[in-house]
Amino acid sequence: MRHLLSISDLSRDFALEILSTAHELSRVSENGTKKLPTLRGKTVVNLFAEDSTRTRISFEAAAKRLSADVINFSAKGSSVSKGESLKDTAQTLQALGADAVILRHPASGAAHRLAQGRWISGSVINAGDGTHEHPSQALLDAFTIQRHLCDSKGDLAGLHIAIVGDILHSRVARSNILLLKKLGATVTLVAPPTLIPFAWQSWGVEVSHDLDAVLPTVDAVIMLRIQKERMSDLYFPSSREYSALFGINAERASLMKSHALVMHPGPMNRGLEITAEVADSSASVVVEQVANGVSVRMAILYLFIAGNQED
Ligand code: NCD
Repeated sequence: MRHLLSISDLSRDFALEILSTAHELSRVSENGTKKLPTLRGKTVVNLFAEDSTRTRISFEAAAKRLSADVINFSAKGSSVSKGESLKDTAQTLQALGADAVILRHPASGAAHRLAQGRWISGSVINAGDGTHEHPSQALLDAFTIQRHLCDSKGDLAGLHIAIVGDILHSRVARSNILLLKKLGATVTLVAPPTLIPFAWQSWGVEVSHDLDAVLPTVDAVIMLRIQKERMSDLYFPSSREYSALFGINAERASLMKSHALVMHPGPMNRGLEITAEVADSSASVVVEQVANGVSVRMAILYLFIAGNQED
């Protein structure tokens, strides 16, 4: 496979191969090898046309640990903010000899456009396109769940995962639903009706509006950020009411099984969808998700850049 655009393009076996490669790579770095020569001479471009901290530095760290050259290209301060089209930007990246372009973009479908335009010969890795998908985040979430809750097969069968909050605007939710189901987990979405898209009925998930009823049954809960920047209307009466009904606090977290994980892709709105107490508690794997992200993105870069060469 050449591009990573959507979780739906991955077979179950290939998704598991990415995850097992990430496990191998994390073992190698835990054993003290900080840098591998695998992508020496390759150029990875981080093209970020939307704000990001974690995802951008995680891809950068992953590429550097594999010895690739990294070019960081953010929209602010570049010709993208002067209105340059994706095609013209892509042609510049091609001229720089990019072997992979990591694209974050506010428009849903931007990564597909870049890949289908055939303006570049390298791999396109979708690092979040509008409200559509964020495949590397879903892979790092599955990796984190595997590390804590799975046997060596890495299968998520029998696990129940709740995704809570702003599903409507969340590319993380879309990619996670596709991947968690592909790997055999049961998924329940919990949110006010206004933040659940109409399409949910075709997604093979359960929906609930009662977080207290769902929490005792889950193995992990993925809390989502309220994405105010994507909200043009009011989706709930007040932040206070949202937190009271759909936020996770210590009292709610105590309803969960003792092994259950609290996850969040970041950045967190502490005090809105998650209290500081829960974010910093022993059930929370939020910081570990960031660390795991580097191993998973190393696996992605390795498999997709090498896969592209075989093509
Ligand atoms: C997510 C994103 O950008 O979609 N964050 C991330 O990549 N770590 C989620 C979010 O912004 O809420």
